[in-house]
Amino acid sequence: MKPTHMQPWQQLQSMAPHFREMSLRQLFSSTPNRGETYHLTAGEIYLDYAKNRFDNTVLKTLLDLARECGVEKTRDAMFAGQKINTTENRAVLHTALRNQSENSIELDGIDVMPAIRAVLEQMRTFSRAVREGEWRGATGKRIRTVINIGIGGSDLGPVMATEALKWYSLRELQVKFVSNIDGSHLAEALHGAEPGETLFIIASKTFTTDETMTNAASARHWLVEALGEDAVARHFVALSTNLEAVAEFGIDPANAFAFWDWVGGRYSLTSAIGLSLMIAIGTDNFDELLRGFYTVDEHFRTAPLEQNMPVLLALIGIWNTNFLGAETEAILPYEQYLHRLPAYLQQASMESNGKSVTKDGQRVDYMTGPVLWGEPGTNGQHAFYQLIHQGTRLIPCDFIVFAQSLNNPDGHNEHHRKLLANVFAQSQALAFGKTADEVRADGVAETLVPHKVFEGNRPSNTLLLPKLTPSTLGQLIALYEHKIFVQGVIWGINSFDQWGVELGKVLAKDIYEHLDATDLLRYDSSTAVLLRKAQQLAGDQPT
Ligand code: F6P
Repeated sequence: MKPTHMQPWQQLQSMAPHFREMSLRQLFSSTPNRGETYHLTAGEIYLDYAKNRFDNTVLKTLLDLARECGVEKTRDAMFAGQKINTTENRAVLHTALRNQSENSIELDGIDVMPAIRAVLEQMRTFSRAVREGEWRGATGKRIRTVINIGIGGSDLGPVMATEALKWYSLRELQVKFVSNIDGSHLAEALHGAEPGETLFIIASKTFTTDETMTNAASARHWLVEALGEDAVARHFVALSTNLEAVAEFGIDPANAFAFWDWVGGRYSLTSAIGLSLMIAIGTDNFDELLRGFYTVDEHFRTAPLEQNMPVLLALIGIWNTNFLGAETEAILPYEQYLHRLPAYLQQASMESNGKSVTKDGQRVDYMTGPVLWGEPGTNGQHAFYQLIHQGTRLIPCDFIVFAQSLNNPDGHNEHHRKLLANVFAQSQALAFGKTADEVRADGVAETLVPHKVFEGNRPSNTLLLPKLTPSTLGQLIALYEHKIFVQGVIWGINSFDQWGVELGKVLAKDIYEHLDATDLLRYDSSTAVLLRKAQQLAGDQPT
């Protein structure tokens, strides 16, 4: 049944107009202890969700909706390895990758845990060898530059987490990431790199992705030019589910790190895809990251829906998107090290829930995944917050902040104290705004009053954690993964396929073959003119 046909959905629809009018000022004055009431803890994450426009009845009805949509049943099916990715007939078992219990997890009658542990051990051995200088390049030199070549899920997770955990990383090793087909990305990564000291990690679930294969071939060419064909085995390793293609590329099967089709690309950070991260931060920190993931996996699996943080976050998102009319969500980490988190969550959320048909192929008649975006605070405050505060759109925000900083450059913790003051001030300003009378009370000229009014009533969540560690990072990522999962279940869509990326790939292949063609009649007039113009500008227009 479509969620819109369910009673809780219809009840929420009838409550929504009241809450579109209702202000957070009113809600806080009628329930002054909202802050004490509407918060949750999962692992080390404290979530304050009081600054959203809802009351207990809305919350209860949202929870009814989750139950009626089968969130608990589908969650249990995912953890149990059932093939919930129906369009690809695959299980969705990224949670097994970080399972810290002794329990087996069976897929088609086979326990997946021994294979997971074996690859993790292979990764640990290799990471230690690289970090400790035992793994030598073809000329006997130790590795100083590691370049991960991958894209999408084979890039964004490792980049985000390597940046996030830079404080914990081995600084003598440079870990770089190349994803874009644009040759400048690889060229810049190779700039100044010494072939004898460079290790390439080719990360691709399918080992067919054009961007990755093209970059890998160029990297191979660069290395072979400098050190010869025999050097490839010491300078290339691969992370993939397609071990045949890895061997064809010329990578020693001993240097291939496997994973499995039940790990979705955007959920693959804790699979072999995390090798570059493990090399950067070391095995102990990587293990701590896995334990962080597991803490929130267990919370999600066992906590009652009322106290289940991913469920609550998902439901608030659904309330804002489907009932209050929000079209986007901003992710605003007040932590410089998390500067790639919004980009990472963009793929996690938008590739998962950017769907317009239900699992059984029917067109939805309600909004699904919101546009997700963001930048670290306080930079965003001096760029786009103007629109969040005074623009015409409703933009729910997630503020993410750590009570302790990893760095204290002034010796007095002033940077961090100011950062904290800013994050709490922003959610306060967004929620409560400033009325015309309050503006007038500041002695502002009447003509300027409308410009200085803040309507407020902008919803936000604040996620407060003690300190950025591998564990808290794992907890945060698992929280968002499961939030996305719950929303997909409620919207009745398959969050684990990504057919929407296919058409562009096919057309790009066709255009690539006709880039220099003179007869462009096969294309629409706009595309044909663009191609002709590009040919002219590139200087190879036939005379
Ligand atoms: O963009 C589509 C996609 O399939 C993503 O889902 C995936 O993360 C990315 O391409 C990379 O795929 P692969 O790891 O197979 O190279």
